[in-house]
This record gives sequence, C-alpha cells and structure tokens, in this order.
Amino acid sequence: MKKGQEIELKITRMKYPNIGIGSFEAQEVRVKNALTGQLLACRISKKRSTKIEARALEVIERAPNEKDSFCEHFNVCGGCMLQTLDYESQLQLKTEMVKNLFDEAGVMLKFNPIVPSPEAFEYRNKMEFSFGDEFKDGPLTLGMHKKGHHHDVVDVPNCHLADVDFRTIQTGVLAYAKENGLIKYNKRSNIGFLRHLVVRKTKGTGEIMVALSATSQVADEQGNAFDGKAFARYISELPLTGTLKSVLYVKNDGLGDVVSGEIVCLFGDLHITEKLFDLTFKITLYSFFQTNTKGAEKLYQTALDQIDAIEDKVCFDLFSGTGTIGQIMAQKAKKVIGIEWVEDAVMAARENALINGLDNCEFICGDVFEQLKNVKVKPDVIVVDPPRSGMGEKTTVAVASYGIPSIVYVSCNPSTLLDDLIVFQKQGYVAEDITLVDMFPWTGGVESIVLIQKQSM
Ligand SMILES: C[S@@+](CC[C@H](N)C(=O)[O-])C[C@H]1O[C@@H](n2cnc3c(N)ncnc32)[C@H](O)[C@@H]1O
Repeated sequence: MKKGQEIELKITRMKYPNIGIGSFEAQEVRVKNALTGQLLACRISKKRSTKIEARALEVIERAPNEKDSFCEHFNVCGGCMLQTLDYESQLQLKTEMVKNLFDEAGVMLKFNPIVPSPEAFEYRNKMEFSFGDEFKDGPLTLGMHKKGHHHDVVDVPNCHLADVDFRTIQTGVLAYAKENGLIKYNKRSNIGFLRHLVVRKTKGTGEIMVALSATSQVADEQGNAFDGKAFARYISELPLTGTLKSVLYVKNDGLGDVVSGEIVCLFGDLHITEKLFDLTFKITLYSFFQTNTKGAEKLYQTALDQIDAIEDKVCFDLFSGTGTIGQIMAQKAKKVIGIEWVEDAVMAARENALINGLDNCEFICGDVFEQLKNVKVKPDVIVVDPPRSGMGEKTTVAVASYGIPSIVYVSCNPSTLLDDLIVFQKQGYVAEDITLVDMFPWTGGVESIVLIQKQSM
C-alpha cells in the first residue's frame, strides 16, 4: 500500500470523532466521516508506520441502516454528517465511537444508556453564519463554510437545526446586503465590510438577538459608512414568530475569522433572557450558553444526579459560563463559587444570581488554574465543564489536589476528556462509568458526564 493508491475499504467500526476504521491487506486504515458498514472507494492520503489514513472518494455500498438524507444542504455545508441514519442508530453510533476511543486507550468505563435530545430538529438556540462567496469572486452568500473549504461559503436557507426565525433573518439579511450593495470582507486582503451574522433565539421565552459582525471600513462600493439605524429598522420589520430584543453591530477589525470586537447596540438591549428549569439567565453575545436549551436541561440534570446530597456543601462550578450549573446547585447548596474567564459571562452570571434570588453564589472572573490559587474556601463538590480543549494537565492536577471524594466532569469533547481522565487516574482518582447526552442530533458531537471518584487507599 502506498500514498495515492486507490482501494476499496469496508468500514467495520467507528471511533470518535467520526473516524471509520477498516482493514486492507491486513493493515488498519482510517477514513474521516465514514459509517460502520459502508463499502468505500478511498485514496490513501497518509502512510506512516503507526497510522494509515485514506480519503473517501465514493460510497460503493451504503451501510445497511442508511437511508436517503433529508436535507438539501447535505454533504455541502459539512454539518449533520449522520443524517443518513435514523435517530436510534445515531445514538448507538455515538456510543460505539466513544467506547472505541476509550477502549483503544485502555481506559475501561461502564457506559450507561445514552440520553437522547428532547428535540431532534430546530433544537439550536444560536447560529453563526459567515458572509462570503460560493466560489472565488462569486456573488455574495451568507451561510456555512463549504465542507472541506476554509474560504467558500454556501447559503443554507433550509437548515433543519434552526427554526423559522433563523431562516427568515438569514435570508432577510442576505437580501438587505445585496439590495444595499454592502461589500463582503476579504480575508486575504483584509478589505471589505461584512464578516458574520450571529442569531440567538431563546427556547423558553422566544427572545431574539441579531448581531452583525463587520469591519469599521466603508460599507458599500460608493464609500458610504454603515447605516446601523436602517439595518436595525429592517430587522425589526421582518416577519418573526419570536420577539426581537436586540440588534447589535460588532465592530470586528481583527485578523482572525472569529466574531470579536466592540459591540454597538443598534436596537433594544445587549442581552436576551432564557429560562432553564425555573431559573432565568441573561445571555450576552459573547457568553457561552449551551446551544440546545432543552438538551441542556437533560445534561445538567444528569450531571447533578451524580451528586449525592448537596445541602450544606460548598460547590465549585469551574468553567462556569453564565453560571448555569452553579445556580442550579445554589438552589440547595450552602455556597457556590464559579470561575469563568469571559468577563461578559461573569457579569451576566452575577446578575442572573440576583434575578434568581440566590445570595450564596460568587462568580470570579479569570483563568481557572490561576484563580483557584486565590480561593481560600475548600470545596465539598466540584463540577467542571471545560471547553473543547479540555482542562489540561496543570488544571486537572490542581482540581485533583483538593482530594475531595468525587468530581463531576461534563465534557463536550470525549478526546480531551480522555486525556484529563488519564491525569486524574495518576492523581489517585478513578472513573467508573460514563453517561453520554446527545445535544447535537445528526452531527457527530456528543456531551459526556463522568463521575470521578477518589480511590480509597
Ligand atoms: C463548555 S463552556 C461551559 C459553560 C457553562 N458551564 C455552561 O454550561 O453554560 C466552557 C466555558 O469555559 C470558559 N473557559 C475556557 N477556558 C477557560 C479558562 N482557562 N479559565 C476560565 N474559563 C475558561 C469558556 O469561556 C466557556 O464559558
């Protein structure tokens, strides 16, 4: 077998994240975004002594449980890679992928039944679209990056993960930009105006935030500055089913392809308000909030069910975002300390605690590792919910060094969860079981909850 060779490969198992594994000439070959049971035509793309990777060229035979995709954007936008499977098969596949990842690393855990998402369609409360073109110098588009391309952007007006208001806003803003001759930003030259569109819509209250991320350069070819008032008026006249609460302009002159910069409020407030269980949460543009609200209730409930009795306990909510997990715990706990480094999110968490009548919460702004050094009080309970990159070794060691009996780890990335669990093991902790919670139907993503317990000597 050599690089560039074309082969036929039967996928016999999957490993997180969406890696199909088959055997050719008695050697293991890995293909991204395949499905167990597919027969693929592939080209070998990498051949090392330890790893052989191939790129799928064609599906010769579908997996036995595969059916037609339901979305016109399938295979173009790069999302929803599992949509040719029914929901039950997706849940099984996610479990299989995470199990194989852990088994390969020699970390044995008992897998509890996966918790399904309460909603399979239109479950997202946030979408981030990019402005661009479908091909170089093509007409303006507003949508998702084309599968496998960093620059090309495809319209996704009929995405099934977002509700009708997201679709109305996306198509409306694209029409507005075209009618007004607004110019797209060019990443290579750093010239132009339009960059991203963020839409948030709460599930519990139906409140909508629209944020246009664009440079502070001239907005159109005639050299006119952006007319924020006219833009906000246009958005407020769109036929929405929810309530428009916030229209923002993010002055984004940074070089990275991310939404960042000074926020100018064009209409309404800087936040929208979501309901989760019986609690209220203000959400600002830059605060993290789980994208599947109803799934988040399942996630948090499953996580907190791991903790025995919380009354009279001091609880740490590490990587606390807007303080969701902390405030759910604070309804019963003696004291909650949350640590989060996005200032906006911390301010929202403090306000949320006041709105929710919780006076036993403290939210600290800063890096978890650095701030833990300053916290004098000792925890009885720790819940961690780090970003995709995981906690990393030094923070994991710092958390383990409290030596408390159990720690609940909520993770959106099984690979970094695995790395951190290996560090916990070295610190005398053991994880016995794992519960997966599906927050992202049709995609390969999954949340995990692990109860990590101190081993008795
Ligand atoms: C997966 S989110 C969890 C948020 C929250 N627990 C929730 O469920 O809404 C991870 C959070 O960690 C924050 N974060 C990432 N790295 C951090 C660090 N080193 N120190 C403090 N916060 C961090 C992010 O800003 C984000 O809000």
